[in-house]
Amino acid sequence: MKHVISVSDFVPAALDFFVREAWSHELPYERRQRREPTGKLVTLLFTEASTRTRGSNEEAARLLGLDRYIIAGSEATSLVKNESYSATARMLALQNTSVLVIRTPVEGAPRWLAEMLERYGYDVAIHNAGDGANQHPTQAVLDLVTLQRQFDRISGLRIGIVGDLKNSRTVHSLVQALRLIGEVELVLVSSPEVALQPWYTEGLNVSVSDSLDALTGCDVVYVTRVQRERFASEYDYLRVRGKYVINAAVLERLGPEVKIMHPQPVADGEVAPEIWNHPQVIMDRQAGYGVPARMALLQYSLMDVRTRSAASASPPTEQIVSEESIEERLKQKRAEGQYFTPIAEGTVIDHLPVEAGELIWGILKRVPRGQQGVSLLAAGLRSKRLPSGYKSSVVLEQCFLAPEERATIAFLAPTATFNEFRGGLARKIKVVDADALRGVGTCPNPACVTRLDPEAALHPAFHTVAGGDGQVRCHFCEQHFPKAKLFLT
Ligand code: NCD
Repeated sequence: MKHVISVSDFVPAALDFFVREAWSHELPYERRQRREPTGKLVTLLFTEASTRTRGSNEEAARLLGLDRYIIAGSEATSLVKNESYSATARMLALQNTSVLVIRTPVEGAPRWLAEMLERYGYDVAIHNAGDGANQHPTQAVLDLVTLQRQFDRISGLRIGIVGDLKNSRTVHSLVQALRLIGEVELVLVSSPEVALQPWYTEGLNVSVSDSLDALTGCDVVYVTRVQRERFASEYDYLRVRGKYVINAAVLERLGPEVKIMHPQPVADGEVAPEIWNHPQVIMDRQAGYGVPARMALLQYSLMDVRTRSAASASPPTEQIVSEESIEERLKQKRAEGQYFTPIAEGTVIDHLPVEAGELIWGILKRVPRGQQGVSLLAAGLRSKRLPSGYKSSVVLEQCFLAPEERATIAFLAPTATFNEFRGGLARKIKVVDADALRGVGTCPNPACVTRLDPEAALHPAFHTVAGGDGQVRCHFCEQHFPKAKLFLT
């Protein structure tokens, strides 16, 4: 892995490596020891505001002897002329960028760009410096460095997180990182409107509250601002702003041991100014670890590890379960006491859960299929195989599906079988490993790169969430949705 796109790509050993490597850069950073020029170029493309992340990446690159090209604000680029992020990134790659550090409101753009540049044959590492409300993985590394430095351990800590947990990318990345480390206790405090999406905390020891009192006994409290720019309306923002303030009185109640962290900026006094220089408030020290953490991450990407990493999930494979003459098949069915009129040429999709049948039927009908015979959806047939005892089947006379269509259907209904009748032969096909959907469906998240970049729009991709009860995860923006929502637009 040469990219740093999302904590969801990390394994525990990688986190451990980054934290340790960051330590090795602390002294050079504090002494401003600059390395010999390397001739390599780091480009910072920041189309959202930043003080700490941009500055610390710049300084990290400078200390490592790297050249820097800094783009602050989309108004400095042709993005304002409606050029796409894809085209912009290709230009930066052409202009010798080795590492592209990108901050953008477009969720999933870093992963999309990493995969797109790999496809085009460019060797550029992407560092996600914050993509909308999704991820901020390099911040998670500096947050872990801060915890480890402060407490000499992370496992066993009771960690409170307060504020806008739904929209804070730093929280999303940090919680996923803590999940990898394990054995931490999380106390989440927020207004219900901005509670953390449950998929981030699966498997973690977590309690949820809307009161600061729940933070009693925490070793550290990580405060975040309400992310005003992510709200659909000012009214929605005003409903939740200013609810949680850590001031001198709260700090005293929490006790003399607790430490207060904040990724900053403090926007609305959520850590009161009266305690900004209190020894228990370590948010500036935390920000200071940004330079060594980013030195470690930049160095790692420049180690010339030419591995492919951003792309995932191989396409599903197909299995031919049986192939026999139609007559043979009929004889067998009759022996089992099943009587139906066979179709001579065409496809029968069988073993669909009833609720998926309707959705699949709707999707199939969107494509004009020329000279078709009968096509019908039979819902509520008895099924021995499906746990509900009922199934749907789709009959498409004179019609054969492309492998991608079968993959889509199997993604929506993994129990589906495809019976093709052609030239007197009956062939039963099953799609295996249909846990990814590529090229079809629309991500319901309006901030997703697949909604905002015309090239990315051609490549939507989704993954089944294991144990997620029919939920899927967008490959790019990482949001979770019910499967059926992918076909609403
Ligand atoms: C955060 C960000 O941009 O996500 N800041 C940072 O990078 N240190 C936090 C925020 O904006 O609230």
